[in-house]
Amino acid sequence: MLHAVIMAGGAGTRFWPASRVDRPKQLLDLTGDGTMIQATASRLGDLMSPERILIVTNERLIEPIQQQFPSLPASAIVGEPCKRDTAPCIGLAALLVARHDPDAIMVVMPSDHVISPESAFQSAIRYGAALVADSADKIVTFGIQPKYPAETFGYIERGDSLTSDAEAPPTFSVARFREKPKGDVAREYFESGRFYWNSGIFIWKAKTILDALRRHEPEMFAHLEAIGAAWGTPEQAETFTAEFTAIRGKSIDYAVMEHHQDVAVIEAPFLWDDVGNWQSLQRLNDSDLDGNTVLANHLGIDTQQCIIKADDDHLIVTLGMREVIVVHTRDATLVADKNREEEIREVVKQLQANG
Ligand code: GDD
Ligand code: MG
Repeated sequence: MLHAVIMAGGAGTRFWPASRVDRPKQLLDLTGDGTMIQATASRLGDLMSPERILIVTNERLIEPIQQQFPSLPASAIVGEPCKRDTAPCIGLAALLVARHDPDAIMVVMPSDHVISPESAFQSAIRYGAALVADSADKIVTFGIQPKYPAETFGYIERGDSLTSDAEAPPTFSVARFREKPKGDVAREYFESGRFYWNSGIFIWKAKTILDALRRHEPEMFAHLEAIGAAWGTPEQAETFTAEFTAIRGKSIDYAVMEHHQDVAVIEAPFLWDDVGNWQSLQRLNDSDLDGNTVLANHLGIDTQQCIIKADDDHLIVTLGMREVIVVHTRDATLVADKNREEEIREVVKQLQANG
């Protein structure tokens, strides 16, 4: 049966000051259509019943997530004691899902994307799940046509065509998966025309990903198995904290995707956008005639290409400003050069270091 795992333990620091430790971007409503995690769950439509959806997050976020999903049972949200990236999150989810359903097929989704239309997403997932079901240990990925030589995405190189049905989206075997290549390599991949960006959405059998983690990350797997063995016993909480904390963090892309043999890529038949920074907000919301994206009570005089956001009805006035980001929250305000927003990560590090 098809299960969904929503990964929601990321930090989203580039959205500071809207995004905070206790309220990262997946819990924010950045588009006016609900929070990112709510949108992630709702795009599953009727692919599976709600009891087959598992949200894996940080323990600090369990309560705010529960508030956003009042009808989900407590067991549907797993809270990690610390951040160890996506491989341990996925391994634990696979262990938990496989306990109830040893033949489970899992669709694993990040919670920091905007995807439309939902119907195209759902039919793509159905198609991908069927490919997985018909194979021994295939992993299905969804490829996005790259728009620039990004260094923040994984790249998937197309191999032979696997498209068998004229109705199906173009599908290829994967010649190579490379996580976040830098500089010249990213440019070479981009220019070759043979690569997709990795959308971050995966479909596999629970047992396929468990076998792959056992093979490629034996230490991590041993910790996860210990957690699985204690799950549901009085030792669950203590074992979970001790064993999970002992794991060396790694993303699934480096841990498994760069090594797995049987990978297919489906050219995503839906629009996909990664909501990674303030500029992505500009792509997702309408701009005014001066190119400003305004989510605030704002008066702009001679103001162009700015991003202006306030949590409350605080009035923001800009005079003679170009390409700046102004984000006002109750206790912190950011005023930044729009072209330097990658450095917001560093700002957050500095603030954390200063306590
Ligand atoms: N539970 C949990 N625990 N979730 C996590 C953790 C963790 O420690 N770390 C990250 N996540 C969640 C994030 O909230 C996000 O929804 C998802 O896992 C992916 O993590 P990111 O940190 O956002 O990954 P990325 O964007 O740098 O890279 C991945 O996604 C790209 C597409 O957006 C990779 O898969 C890339 O290859 C891919 O191109
Ligand atoms: Mg991401």
